[in-house]
Amino acid sequence: MVRPTFPHASAILSEPAAFLFFNPQHSAFALLRRDKPRNLRLQMKLLVIGSGGREHALVWKLAQSPHVTQLWCAPGNAGIQQERTEKTGKPVECVNIGAEDLPKLLAVAQEKKIELTVVGPDNPLALGIVDLFQKNDLRIWGPNQKAAQFESSKVFSQDFMEKYGIPTAKSGTFSEPAAAKKFAGLLGGKCAVKADGLALGKGVLICASVAEANKAIDEILVSKAFGAAGAKIVIQEFLEGMEISLHALCDGKTAKLFPTSQDHKRALDGDKGLNTGGMGTYCPTPFLGETALAETGRKILEPFTRGCAAEGIDFRGILYPGIIVTRSGPKVLEFNARFGDPETQVYLTRLENDLVELLDASVNGTLDRVELKWSPMASVCVVMASGGYPGGYAKGKPILGLAEAAKLPNTKVFHAGTAKNGNEIVTNGGRVLGVTAWAKDLKSAQSAAYTAVEKICFEGVQFRRDIAAKALS
Ligand code: AMP
Ligand code: GLY
Repeated sequence: MVRPTFPHASAILSEPAAFLFFNPQHSAFALLRRDKPRNLRLQMKLLVIGSGGREHALVWKLAQSPHVTQLWCAPGNAGIQQERTEKTGKPVECVNIGAEDLPKLLAVAQEKKIELTVVGPDNPLALGIVDLFQKNDLRIWGPNQKAAQFESSKVFSQDFMEKYGIPTAKSGTFSEPAAAKKFAGLLGGKCAVKADGLALGKGVLICASVAEANKAIDEILVSKAFGAAGAKIVIQEFLEGMEISLHALCDGKTAKLFPTSQDHKRALDGDKGLNTGGMGTYCPTPFLGETALAETGRKILEPFTRGCAAEGIDFRGILYPGIIVTRSGPKVLEFNARFGDPETQVYLTRLENDLVELLDASVNGTLDRVELKWSPMASVCVVMASGGYPGGYAKGKPILGLAEAAKLPNTKVFHAGTAKNGNEIVTNGGRVLGVTAWAKDLKSAQSAAYTAVEKICFEGVQFRRDIAAKALS
């Protein structure tokens, strides 16, 4: 585990930062290019659900919209609490309700007369928060429970991809260990063994030999390591190549593809160490050019949309396919049904559209009238995590240097696991901050992000020093 001395320093920081004093969110250029509001209420109250860096980025971007008068977040974090809506200057209010407490979330949305609820994480979607709010005549953005199965069931997703010809890994679905082992044997043991259901991001076991694959199959199907989530498994051939994230905003008929981004899932530099929720991202990546991205988007999104129509699935929200660019072309590993974290941090620092207008169009089914606009800047997010993460870690460590980092231009420190303790902001989770900077090119953005990282410290802090390095080597 990386535990830099306190206060820390990093080799990459020696480079001079090149800043552009141009903020895409506030420039006249961006305002001129913004889509015209369509029938949108100019006095909207919004509720965002979740408490991570993704939700801070969503709140930050939504708070810039002239449509928003007041914003709540459940449960939020210390950084979200510091945001204000640009239109009214009202502070964002955090309400202490967990993202999975559906009855209380419904009650607060009714009490505050929320006009649009925006769901960040996967669990409330899988629990059917969208269906519940819709039954109660409340507008909510995100896929309903049936559509959220693209993330909540790997068997559902894999069957769908095969049925509708979406490029994916060779795979099989099993509930019997003997048949699963036979299939893994045919792949020479080089495979990914995946529990069907949500397993706190731990349900995927990557195997390099028949012995490893047999052990993984027994762990899930026989020892029930993931309980009911592992009643069935998907076994995929192991795909080699560069892994990248795609996102597409969908409205049930139309899907609008984002630029590519890349997460860094392992805890340590050089993609070593344990898998985490994500230690840093950058956008765009050089691994799919404009034409290849458009082609990949078409190969995934056309059959996706056709398949949804045929199966009666109304997918309104973000479809986030994880893909590997193999020698024989890009292949989908998995679908998520929400914004990635920390992909959101780099996407929303480049997005020039009004996010309320986009989410509204996604709910309304009018995305065909919208054009996504991205700033020409590159964006880099470096996650600062608690020592020990993704294993056990201490909480309550004071975070120093946030005010210094906030003075840097074209930089935003998104909070994830943070809390207020009196006047102090302290650590309160594994991933603590997503330090994000944008600049004219990737190298400058990387340098700016690490300049900000250097200003911040807390006891035990760990972060990767090679975010975006793959794109620059
Ligand atoms: P998932 O939850 O399906 O995204 O899997 C977690 C991680 O395991 C992914 O981000 C990949 O790095 C890796 N992975 C999953 N499936 C495969 C596969 N078929 N081949 C190679 N790596 C994989
Ligand atoms: N970036 C990984 C995830 O959001 O699942």
